[in-house]
Amino acid sequence: MAIVKNQSGSYVQFTVILIGLLLFPLPSRSSDPDPLQDFCIGDTKSEFSVNGFPCKPATKVTSDDFFFDGLSQEGNTSNLFGSNVTQANVVAFPGLNTLGISMNRVDFAPGGINPPHSHPRATETGVLINGKLLVGLITTGNVFYSKILSPGQMFVIPKGLVHFQMNVGEEKALTFTAFNSHLPGAVVVPRNLFASKPSVPDGVLTKAFQVDKRVIDEIKSKFGA
Ligand SMILES: *[C@@H]1O[C@H](CO)[C@@H](O)[C@H](O)[C@H]1NC(C)=O
Ligand SMILES: *[C@@H]1O[C@H](CO)[C@@H](O)[C@H](O)[C@H]1NC(C)=O
Repeated sequence: MAIVKNQSGSYVQFTVILIGLLLFPLPSRSSDPDPLQDFCIGDTKSEFSVNGFPCKPATKVTSDDFFFDGLSQEGNTSNLFGSNVTQANVVAFPGLNTLGISMNRVDFAPGGINPPHSHPRATETGVLINGKLLVGLITTGNVFYSKILSPGQMFVIPKGLVHFQMNVGEEKALTFTAFNSHLPGAVVVPRNLFASKPSVPDGVLTKAFQVDKRVIDEIKSKFGA
């Protein structure tokens, strides 16, 4: 390597790396930024828009701000996918504001699927409570990894990767998931591509999927698009 062989070469190399670091600083973290105070209960109704939500005045904070019972109820799975995601993100549970953490509850009917999706702002981990769940993820290099989980077993989905869960058991399935973001976001691939508003031009979808317009129309019609 140049660093070992040639002193003036290594000096140039070092200078180039230094300039690169100054111009394009490496991100110091890969999840939400750290909070700057003990807590900041989100004022989700505020007219101000910041990176997160403004804090509710500390004098108005009560015990209730630190607790949330929205995950105690089973979601209704009588829908297209046979699954229901109940979110406990900063919007539902403002106490999470700025803390870089959130959770979901996902209920599945037998055969139900949480369709391929990704979370642009978070790594996800989860534990299966009931049922038999196929969890799969696909890397940026198009390698597919999967496993069928039993209750008590966990999974992890690296930040941003496309993944899904499918109930492959005879009974209902239930999982609780956690994210290292107060608002992980979800790009649900089928809805994103076939049910956006306004819709993605047919010409883009026919070319991207190498099918004719009838196939695209049929898929769009399933999502009421
Ligand atoms: C999920 O369940 C809740 C509570 O039963 C229900 O209000 C909501 O419409 C369901 N969502 C979907 C997509 O079925
Ligand atoms: C679940 O949703 C379906 C479809 O919207 C509805 O017909 C049914 O009454 C709901 N079940 C419960 C328990 O709310």
